[in-house]
Amino acid sequence: MKGKLAGLAGLAGAAAFVYAWAGERPQMRLDRYTVALPDGAGAGLQILHLADQHLGSDNWVQRRRMNHLQRILPGLKPDLIIFTGDFLHNDAGLGAVERMVRLLPPARLGVFAVLGNHDYAEYSWRQFFAGVWHGVVAAPDGDGGMQRQRLVAIAEGMREVVGLGLRILRNERLRFARSPNDSRELRALLELYDVCLLDNAAAPLPGHPDLWLVGVDDLIEGAPDLAQAWAAVPKSVQVLLLTHHPDLAYEAQPGRMALALAGHTHGGQVVLPWLGAIHTQGTRLPRRHAAGLFDDLPGGQLFVSRGMGESTPFRFRCPPQVVLIDLAPARAMG
Ligand SMILES: [Fe+2]
Repeated sequence: MKGKLAGLAGLAGAAAFVYAWAGERPQMRLDRYTVALPDGAGAGLQILHLADQHLGSDNWVQRRRMNHLQRILPGLKPDLIIFTGDFLHNDAGLGAVERMVRLLPPARLGVFAVLGNHDYAEYSWRQFFAGVWHGVVAAPDGDGGMQRQRLVAIAEGMREVVGLGLRILRNERLRFARSPNDSRELRALLELYDVCLLDNAAAPLPGHPDLWLVGVDDLIEGAPDLAQAWAAVPKSVQVLLLTHHPDLAYEAQPGRMALALAGHTHGGQVVLPWLGAIHTQGTRLPRRHAAGLFDDLPGGQLFVSRGMGESTPFRFRCPPQVVLIDLAPARAMG
């Protein structure tokens, strides 16, 4: 009986693993939200929000997602398109970024973007564990003092692995085994296709002087400067903040952010029943805010996308998404 139960549990575990690897990752949902900005700013506009594509070398998941985009994107009629970073997973994805940008529907108010941490760097679990293993294997072997050096190397390796595990458990930001991506090439490509990169910069929305876009550089790998980004914004206008990392939305001045659009969390990627998202990499952002629309920040409202791709290749109860946001007239008070 015990053996049967263990067998069944093993089978269920294997099925969950295969589902998390191959079940939801190739999907692409089109999700719609309606948001009311203060004073009814931008009412009637529709925003297409695209986040965390994580494009890399060609593979079956990426091909399936691109097929979904070919089906979804040309049928949309947004006024404004916003990217919130992590176009790239690694440099091999530059060609796919170009293919995706060419699929975009026309947007009369333009296409705006900020970069994410993966646009600057590739992180590798394999490289991390290889580094730990190399540290242990490369330690001198032998008697007495030399034996001690090996034990010290093993302890150091374990300390690194446990440290990373604890950072995940505490939902802290991760930065490990990184090699640079060619963000200069990415910037040039975006410029070529008229995607306006807001690098700690602001711009009024064309034809809507009461609504400005403010974009801030990535929190982990970039040089974010909210004060500089906000410097040119008149006091009387509403602001749409573009930030890859949602933590920066918590630093906007109270009342000065109508809506922040962010990504980075990938919705937590694995969302367990009762427990919720296992990791959002947001030190300020709580796990319960892994994805969706929230209005309990001091600065204003925040929308966090589940993203269109991911870093670690698993998704469970958290499919990739493309998001349309309709700006509604101001909510009646009362
Ligand atoms: Fe990402």
